Amino acid sequence: MSDTDKPPREYPGLTYGKYLKISELLQLQHTLVADRSHDELLFIVIHQAYELWFKQILYELDTVGELMKSGDPIEARRLLDRVSTIGDVLVQQIHILETMTPRDFCHFRAALRPASGFQSAQFRELEYLCGAKDPSYLVNYEEGSVERARLERRLAEPSLRETFYRMLQTFGYDVPEDPGDEDRDQVVRALLPVYRNFEDQSAIYNLCEALVSHDQWLATWRFHHVRTVERIIGSKRGTGGSSGVPYLMGTVSKRLFPLLWEVRAWLDDDDLFATYKAPGEA
Ligand code: HEM
Repeated sequence: MSDTDKPPREYPGLTYGKYLKISELLQLQHTLVADRSHDELLFIVIHQAYELWFKQILYELDTVGELMKSGDPIEARRLLDRVSTIGDVLVQQIHILETMTPRDFCHFRAALRPASGFQSAQFRELEYLCGAKDPSYLVNYEEGSVERARLERRLAEPSLRETFYRMLQTFGYDVPEDPGDEDRDQVVRALLPVYRNFEDQSAIYNLCEALVSHDQWLATWRFHHVRTVERIIGSKRGTGGSSGVPYLMGTVSKRLFPLLWEVRAWLDDDDLFATYKAPGEA
């Protein structure tokens, strides 16, 4: 009898509250200036809810990577769909903060400085895990801290993007290990048959599109976040020290799988593809 066949152990006296550690959870919202600000609790709850979902997303994406390594695009796609469904909730959630007036935010904003979502280690982990590995963010985390160690590990590990392209290689697609912009022609050529004949290559096609959906919710979140930020603080600098809205606008164009976005541009145009010249090509 394997472990999974055994009946689960019972926990007499278990309750909803004990299982989910609700009383511990509800003690974790410590306001700094709640006597002056009704909205500070909302601000804390929203950020904590994001961090819980980030935890779940990282957990799912680690499994997605393992599934790709074992050559299972169907199950990888199923879990990616879950991540994107969570992502859609995260996009909507930011707008709850728009029920706060700019004046009320001022009542506690100064107390937060220099803290900022900019320092969210799980958000950076998400970026690193997916392939957006900008090591300049590491300075926000103390050397030797748990967060710094986790981020350094993510930087050193193959990203989801690398794992995806390696999986394609094992399935016989002619793609480089971790393609950059300079590999655009090669990747587009390899994936055009998948996008043209998706009925015949549905497992890979569906996985590619699930990766695009994942990329899309994150880019959409960036956009919704910056609009909310602008609505609340206008042109002020961020508490994390960045220029605020201009910095955040610069991140909206980040893509985790840029070549999967690119491939569809070539679908109906053989001539264009044949005559396409990469930048710098004679
Ligand atoms: C009143 C609401 C909010 C305001 C005014 C705000 C403001 C800002 C600003 C100005 C930045 C740029 C960095 C800086 O200099 O501080 C930033 C970054 C960031 N914020 Fe927010 N934020 C808000 C809500 C949230 C929420 C609810 C989350 C959820 C986790 C969040 C997550 C982030 C993340 C992850 C970054 C880094 C983005 C990147 O570097 O690409 N923010 N925020």
